[in-house]
Amino acid sequence: MTQPKLLPLTPVQGPHGSRSAMTCKYRCADACFHPMPNTSGNPEFRDLAEQALRRRSVLKAGGVGLGALAVTGLTAPGAAAAPVSPAAAPGGHGRGRGRANDVGTDPFRAVAPNRTDDVTVPRGYRSDVVIRWGDPVTRKAPRFDVTRQSADAQYEQFGYNCDYVGVFHTSRNKALLAVNHEYTNEELMFPAGTDERLQKEVAMAAHGLSVVEIQRGRRQGSWETVPVRRTRRNRRISLRTRFEVTGPAAGHPLLRTSQDLSGRRVFGTLNNCAGGHTPWGTVLSGEENFNQYFDAGEGLDPRYAAQYARYGITGADTRGWSEVDERFSLSEEPHEPHRFGWIVEIDPYDPDSVPQKHSMLGRFKHEGANVALADDGRAVAYMGDDERGDYIYKFVSRKKVRRGDSKAARRHNLTLLHTGTLYVARFDGETPPEAPYDGAGRWVPLCTDKQSFVDGMSVAEVLVFTRLAADRVGATRMDRPEDIEPNPVTGKVYCALTNNSQRGSTFPVDEPNPLGTSQVRAERNLPLTQASGNRNGYVLEISPRGGDHASTSMDWDLMLVCGDPDAPETYFAGYPKQLVSPISCPDNVAFDAQGNLWVSTDGNQIGSNDGLFRVPTEGHQRGHVQMFLTVPLGAECCGPLISEDQRSVWTAIQHPGEKDGSTFESPASTWPDSPFPRPSVVVSYRA
Ligand code: FEO
Ligand code: CA
Ligand code: CA
Repeated sequence: MTQPKLLPLTPVQGPHGSRSAMTCKYRCADACFHPMPNTSGNPEFRDLAEQALRRRSVLKAGGVGLGALAVTGLTAPGAAAAPVSPAAAPGGHGRGRGRANDVGTDPFRAVAPNRTDDVTVPRGYRSDVVIRWGDPVTRKAPRFDVTRQSADAQYEQFGYNCDYVGVFHTSRNKALLAVNHEYTNEELMFPAGTDERLQKEVAMAAHGLSVVEIQRGRRQGSWETVPVRRTRRNRRISLRTRFEVTGPAAGHPLLRTSQDLSGRRVFGTLNNCAGGHTPWGTVLSGEENFNQYFDAGEGLDPRYAAQYARYGITGADTRGWSEVDERFSLSEEPHEPHRFGWIVEIDPYDPDSVPQKHSMLGRFKHEGANVALADDGRAVAYMGDDERGDYIYKFVSRKKVRRGDSKAARRHNLTLLHTGTLYVARFDGETPPEAPYDGAGRWVPLCTDKQSFVDGMSVAEVLVFTRLAADRVGATRMDRPEDIEPNPVTGKVYCALTNNSQRGSTFPVDEPNPLGTSQVRAERNLPLTQASGNRNGYVLEISPRGGDHASTSMDWDLMLVCGDPDAPETYFAGYPKQLVSPISCPDNVAFDAQGNLWVSTDGNQIGSNDGLFRVPTEGHQRGHVQMFLTVPLGAECCGPLISEDQRSVWTAIQHPGEKDGSTFESPASTWPDSPFPRPSVVVSYRA
């Protein structure tokens, strides 16, 4: 079997490949078109990555370049020399090996790259839509009527642009589905001529999260929603939901507004992107591109000029929400943006619980947070700041997790993220030639709940202005760190670095760039720079020293350098390139019980729809990237989650139809079932 070939498509133009200008506008307020907000001059990870790839090619291929390495099919370091059977089951670790219908071991035939307006899965699999934008979440929800939508209706219905997906079991056959609603796209949500204020009100209501009770369907691996009249567990979390701020910055003057003199109560959560489930059964959700919601009003408060700039808060090109709620005007409430950009924790099992915003985990454009336990039982959360040139962080709790299901244990565990130490990652490329890793690294402490390690900044200031604190300790600038998640089987940690498509092209002068523009990079034959910048992204593998997540030392490897396998710069952990699926722009990651990595993509730069890929991380199949699923036109694949029983693959289909020129009346996608697109959660399983 050879790899599925790329489609003969016109090469995608522009800085974002298949990601449309529409996505850039609505998702992150054109973040990539603005100068990189990190002007610290700190070292860049990409330079270390390039060094590592050059070293590999020199060491292992007898001085030939990486291109030759690829063409000759030689394997790079770390790869086993054993012959490979493409049909062999992956994994080789963990539970449930080789059971029937187990998505971790099933040798499915990879889906071919395509531009189909549908969810495509391997032969023998099915996929069902479980819940769509507008479907009822609470009993108050009216039937969805897109032509008569109101904010009150939307506050009770499933929100827009689903991202993170979590499944929390309540019994063998029932569970709670928790989903983020990252952002809205008014051009696809409303018929032309819809009142603009109404659009804003509905869009505001379509943000947040949903918790929905689900039950197993008739077919093994399938799930469906429990009718809302038969459940009391469902919940919409929205701008109307009260959150409690926890940790050292709670109550600090920087968090106080005229509506909340306590600095401890915030209504709502915004731009919730990825997330994770904790070992104690709660949802962690990342508030990502929150900067786009705040209008300048009468002007920006000069006291916070540097801080606003570092977070991309310009007050311009926003969604105009201050017309509906004046707290979104920076001149009215200069502290309101300090109340967003946090990791929030939600107890899905208790629909009356007050969700928390954890100041101890720092404030930045949080992609999400994923928790592992240290050897001594402390909770360790890994987090990425999704912006070009921003950092990777880790939090280690002061207290240890309490085992068991007792109420006391649950109460205790819900305080674990209040106290501890916040670190930022500093990577180092200097390794002895014989070292088995590409490089080493350190977790540099920023503060504990009691002590700041950053000169001139208090604990609260480190937490509210975390990006500025990390700038000062020499953290390593990364290429848009997205999901970072520990592999529960091996203990290694995987981070998707989506891309940095404008590096070295649009802003070559503005940013400190030791290797110069893309042309200079190309002349020097640097492997990641065939195009302008890191276009297709990579997956970083981090090994905590001693296998302990609390360790402040680590080693790292570039596991995947994504792109067209025929391109010389790509690398798939040494697996034969002719056997892998093309993959571009890794974004979210998940693991199955065998410890296989599942990677979903956003903004494929090689001309086909985004999708979900399974990649073994150990054994002779390590690096065997296989596409499991593709998403409809214009969509990105979010939320991947492999069910505990390995029978169901969950994905969130975000922004179907989001293509330039696409409108409600004339959409680029009509998925799943109406004349206009509806972001939806899908479950896939062996039929
Ligand atoms: Fe919302 Fe980092 O993607
Ligand atoms: Ca994402
Ligand atoms: Ca994940």
